[in-house]
Amino acid sequence: MSDTRPDWAPAAINLDQPSSARVWDYFLGGSHNFAVDRQVAEAAIAFKPDLPDVARQVRMFLRRAVRTAAAAGVDQFLDIGAGVPTMGPVHEVAREIRPARVVYVDHDPVAVAHGEAMLAEDPDADFIQGDVRTPRAILADPRVRKLIDFDRPVAVLLCSVLHFVADTDDPAGIVATLRDALAPGSFLIVQHASHDNQPAETIAMLEMWNSKSPEPMHWRTADRIEALFEGFTLLEPGVVPMPLWRPLPEDAERAAQDPERYASYAAVAVKPGATGATG
Ligand SMILES: C[S@@+](CC[C@H](N)C(=O)[O-])C[C@H]1O[C@@H](n2cnc3c(N)ncnc32)[C@H](O)[C@@H]1O
Repeated sequence: MSDTRPDWAPAAINLDQPSSARVWDYFLGGSHNFAVDRQVAEAAIAFKPDLPDVARQVRMFLRRAVRTAAAAGVDQFLDIGAGVPTMGPVHEVAREIRPARVVYVDHDPVAVAHGEAMLAEDPDADFIQGDVRTPRAILADPRVRKLIDFDRPVAVLLCSVLHFVADTDDPAGIVATLRDALAPGSFLIVQHASHDNQPAETIAMLEMWNSKSPEPMHWRTADRIEALFEGFTLLEPGVVPMPLWRPLPEDAERAAQDPERYASYAAVAVKPGATGATG
């Protein structure tokens, strides 16, 4: 049975199918989700109770990575697969360090509607509908070109999105297309789910999601994730279990305990030839 459509929900969305953006919003404590999303989210939590913490930790990694790029001088950000902007959106994090222009991209109509509304009064940020599998269309989008100058360094974020891209859609090719459009000194920020060293319950959760969702996930090994960074120079500490990517001092001890509990790797890299941006 369908949920009731609230005023803010775009007419195009299917209230009978879960969406990764809305399930993620639920994990993060947001309100832009429907009964079908909450049911799948709770079914996933039954397999892996710390999923809401996983979502929060991805946002914490994103915050650390954005701060790293901004501190290195980057003032333009392209956040692809941005999600419903609930917790610490990139423009707020980057602007704690310097004025920044930010374009968010997502294929989910709820994420786009909410993002457009949130940024309506912000001339230096925008939220467009786009598909990571067609990076040339994103790069050519007039609203992207209006805010992002690709002759200068840009930080591209691909957090928790490349694992929604099947091998047949060539994730490495997608990253290479983006890389080739970027100026030296540009940053690539990636978080990617992995089944490396995961318990059976986590794999069962993945299988459950893939049986119910129109957006199946394609988790990858650390080697495959590292290969996505071809043509970039990885910043220390490289491709690591997500909590280990430059944890805040107060989090370092906890991060070192069972760092693979979040079933994902994270890394930040710079396109070489930089003019001073070293992270
Ligand atoms: C798990 S959420 C991550 C949101 C945010 N990047 C974060 O790290 O908190 C995944 C997001 O990727 C988006 N997404 C999935 N497949 C996509 C695609 N092919 N193109 C664009 N966005 C996509 C979903 O709509 C969702 O908002």
